[in-house]
Amino acid sequence: MSQNSKSYVIDAARTPRGRGKAGKGALSGIHPQELLAQVLRALEKRTGFTTKDVDDVIVGAVSQVGEQGSNIARNTVLAAGWPVEVSGVSLNRFCGSGVQAINFAAMGIASGTMDLVVAGGVESMSRLPIGADGGGVDGANLELRKRFFQVPQGISADLIATREGYVRKQLDELALRSQKKAAVAIEEKRFARSLVAVTDPATGNVVLAADESPRADTTLEGLAKLAPSFVQMGATPVGPNGETLDQIALSAFPDTLAIEHLHTAGNSSGLADGAGAVVLASETYVREHGLKPRARIRAMATVGSDPILMLTGPAPASEKALKKAGMSAKDIDLWEINEAFAAVVLQTTSKLGIDPDRVNVNGGAMALGHPLGATGAMLIGTALDELERAGKATALITMCIGGGQGIATILERV
Ligand SMILES: CC(C)(COP(=O)(O)OP(=O)(O)OC[C@H]1O[C@@H](n2cnc3c(N)ncnc32)[C@H](O)[C@@H]1OP(=O)(O)O)[C@@H](O)C(=O)NCCC(=O)NCCS
Repeated sequence: MSQNSKSYVIDAARTPRGRGKAGKGALSGIHPQELLAQVLRALEKRTGFTTKDVDDVIVGAVSQVGEQGSNIARNTVLAAGWPVEVSGVSLNRFCGSGVQAINFAAMGIASGTMDLVVAGGVESMSRLPIGADGGGVDGANLELRKRFFQVPQGISADLIATREGYVRKQLDELALRSQKKAAVAIEEKRFARSLVAVTDPATGNVVLAADESPRADTTLEGLAKLAPSFVQMGATPVGPNGETLDQIALSAFPDTLAIEHLHTAGNSSGLADGAGAVVLASETYVREHGLKPRARIRAMATVGSDPILMLTGPAPASEKALKKAGMSAKDIDLWEINEAFAAVVLQTTSKLGIDPDRVNVNGGAMALGHPLGATGAMLIGTALDELERAGKATALITMCIGGGQGIATILERV
């Protein structure tokens, strides 16, 4: 079935990405509800929509426990001071959560069920680190492990790199490019349109106005010196007979003899804190309220992929979305392929046969960080801003997802 939805993107905003480390990151003192609430209030102020008209607020977050538990969407609506009549729902599609929230909003509008929706995501990795919900990668279901014994994402990334025959230098070169592109984007204020400075709710003082992780002084030599991050993890014995995580992953791929651990702090996405959101509206709402849409959602897709390799979903998800849109990869002007790990971007780019110069033109998570549930909403905003800045028409945003999944959304300017 082809998709030709009239779900319009009205505006997008995000916080800067703070370093996702307790005590070190500038946003680590801010409650995640407050991060997102500040984005919602900024969107209300600058976009001028009527908050009481919002049919729902859809929020992605991965670690939905503690401060990010208790339906963070609804509590954020209240924290933002929006009318109590505005509902909120939280979802978890791991790293694809932010894109998923926006896709669900677009579907709700396309179906005629909703007219005005705010969707996005939030993650404070400094306050709720990866794994904070206690579920591990598989909820510790021993029966499931007999079918698929899933491993943490760093092991999957190294397994992909090994099987694709990537060498460390290739991964580091991609990381260096990400840093350089992010540095140019920051220098030229390309993120300015979407950025909302985060203030301390108690004092009103600005705590972070720009992305905190990029290292503009990164060099290939510096990257080459970093130790691989997942060696020790791979050697951890967790199997029923003391098998290590590396051995467990390899047992699913007998043609690969050993995992080469190539991903480091430099060529992996950084831990981050932040929030992002997008305002979407129906054609009727746009017309009746004189809103000026910036783009429409042209197509969306999700796929499942191998759960052990875990991170190979972006290519098939992109192909599926392109097919639904009646487009081919060459029709896409700009690609945002989430830089969860360098191998993911290399593998997706080559699988789709796309021009690397169209990919992540303003850098990505290796430089900027990846606040899990928030990143998708941030990437959609970044793609939208860049389409306008560069005078281009179409963008495809895709992400790899835990459990072996991929998600893609195609944006088209109107
Ligand atoms: C890879 C990972 C384990 C690294 O964690 P870490 O070692 O704590 O990483 P940091 O970002 O703090 O960097 C550690 C050090 O590496 C060095 N470093 C990092 N990036 C660098 C760069 N570009 N150039 C030179 N040195 C760099 C620095 O010395 C840094 O220490 P400093 O911040 O005190 O200067 C972690 O970022 C991670 O797990 N990433 C993936 C997250 C994830 O799985 N997300 C979901 C995707 S599916």
